[in-house]
Amino acid sequence: MKSRSEALVIVANRLPVERPDAATPWKKSSGGLVSALVPVQQAKAGTWIGWGGTADEELAPFRVEGMSLQPVALSRSEIERYYEGFANATLWPLYHDVTGEAIFDRGWWESYVLVNRRFAKAAAQAAPRGGTVWVHDYQLQLVPAMLRKARPDVRIGWFDHIPFPGYEIYSRLPWREQIVKGLLGADLLGFQRRDDAANFLRAARRCAGVVTRGSMADYRGRPIRVGAFPISVDAKELVRLARDCGTLDRAAQIRTELGDPEVVLLGVDRLDYTKGIINRLRAYAELLEEGTVAPPRTVLIQVASPSRERVREYQLLRDELETLVGRINGDYSSVGHPAIHYLHQSFPKEEMAAMYLAADVMLVTPLKDGMNLVAKEYVACRHDEAGTLVLSEFAGAADDLKQAILVNPWDIDGMKTAIRQALDQPSKVGRRTMRAMRSHVFTEDVHHWAAAFLGALQLTTDPDDA
Ligand code: F6P
Repeated sequence: MKSRSEALVIVANRLPVERPDAATPWKKSSGGLVSALVPVQQAKAGTWIGWGGTADEELAPFRVEGMSLQPVALSRSEIERYYEGFANATLWPLYHDVTGEAIFDRGWWESYVLVNRRFAKAAAQAAPRGGTVWVHDYQLQLVPAMLRKARPDVRIGWFDHIPFPGYEIYSRLPWREQIVKGLLGADLLGFQRRDDAANFLRAARRCAGVVTRGSMADYRGRPIRVGAFPISVDAKELVRLARDCGTLDRAAQIRTELGDPEVVLLGVDRLDYTKGIINRLRAYAELLEEGTVAPPRTVLIQVASPSRERVREYQLLRDELETLVGRINGDYSSVGHPAIHYLHQSFPKEEMAAMYLAADVMLVTPLKDGMNLVAKEYVACRHDEAGTLVLSEFAGAADDLKQAILVNPWDIDGMKTAIRQALDQPSKVGRRTMRAMRSHVFTEDVHHWAAAFLGALQLTTDPDDA
C-alpha cells in the first residue's frame, strides 16, 4: 500500500464565505457545517471548492481567515438551469416528496451535468495524490463518479444533507440511473437517517444492479459503504453565545418589547414549502379561534428567512403565507398586539440565540426535512433547561430528539393537541425532557458528525488496493 495524503478537499455548491457585493470583504458564513468543517480542513491543509454566490464572477483562488478557497464560476444561465432549475425545482421537491411540483426539464439536466463536470475537474486538480475528497449534497451527485474516473487514487465521500426519497418517488426522475451511478463513484455515501440510506440502497439495486449486504453495496466489484451520519450543531459554541450577557439581556428585552406575554411561541424557518409553515399557522389560527391562545398573553413570532427568491414556487409560497398572516392578524390582533409577529428577514446568530432563549415553545414542524438544525440549535441554547420543543416526526432531528413533543404536520388537530400539550406541560417534565435532549446534542455535536464520517471514510478500501 502506498502512503496516503492527509489532505482533505471539500466540494460543495457554495464556498463557506459570503459577501453582499464585490466591494465588501468576504466573511465566513455562519452555520454549523462551516464551523465544523473549516477546522478539519485547516488541520488537514486542504482546500474548499465552491461557488462564490454571484453570477459570472471568475475569481482566482483566495484565502479568508486561514481557509484556502477555490471558486467555481457559474454563469447567469447556469444559475437558472443548474441551481434554480435542476437542483431547486427538480431535485429539491422530488427529494422532499413534493411530487406535484417537480419539473423535469432536459435543458436543466444538461446544465446540471456540465456544472457537476466543472466541480469534478476542479476537485481532480486540487486533490493531492492519495488524498481525500468530501463532496456535499444534492447539487453535486454526479461528481463522485466523474472524479473517480479522473482520479482513481483518491478516497471519495459524499454526504446528503437532505432526504433521499423512496423508490416510488425517486423512480419518476428521468435521470435516475445516471444519478445513482454518479453517486456510486464514492467510497462512502452518508445520509441523515437510516431510512434515507435504505432508500438509496433500493434505488441502487433497481437502477444499477448493485448487490447490497447490510450497509455495503457492491458495484462492479468495488465495495461502497452506505450509512446514516446524522448531522448536528456546534453545541458548545451555541451555548457560549447563549450564556453571553449581551444575549441574555437581549432575550429579556425581546420579551419586554413583545409586551411581557405569558407565553412566547417561535417558528424559525427558511421560507420554503417543505417547512410546513402554512399548516402550522392554520393550526395556530384554530387555537386563536377557540380561545386557547390569545394576544397579548400569548404571542407567536414567525421568522421566515428569504430563500431562493427567483424560483416560482418560493414566490407563490411567500404570497400565500403573507396572505394567511395578514388574515390571521386581521382577525385576532388588537392595536399594538399582533397575534403573529412575522419577520421576513435573516438575523445574525446572536439575535437568533436571544430569540431561542425568549421562546417558551419552539415549533419545528416541517413536512419533510433532512435534519433541521433549528431544532438542535434551540436545544443547545437552552442552558436554563426551560423551553419546550414541538417537532415534526418527518424531520431527521426526530430520530435524535425523541423526547420532544412529536407531531404529524399534516394533522391539524394533532398539531393543536401538541401545542396545547406544550402550553400545559409541567415545568418539571419540560426540564427532564430538555435535559435528555441537551445531553444528546452535546454528545453528538457537529464535530462528532464530521469525525464519524471522515473516520468511516478512512476505513473504506484503499483505492490503491481496489
Ligand atoms: O439543506 C440543504 C441546503 O442546500 C443547505 O445546505 C443550505 O443551507 C440550504 O439548503 C439553502 O440552500 P441555498 O441557499 O444554497 O440554495
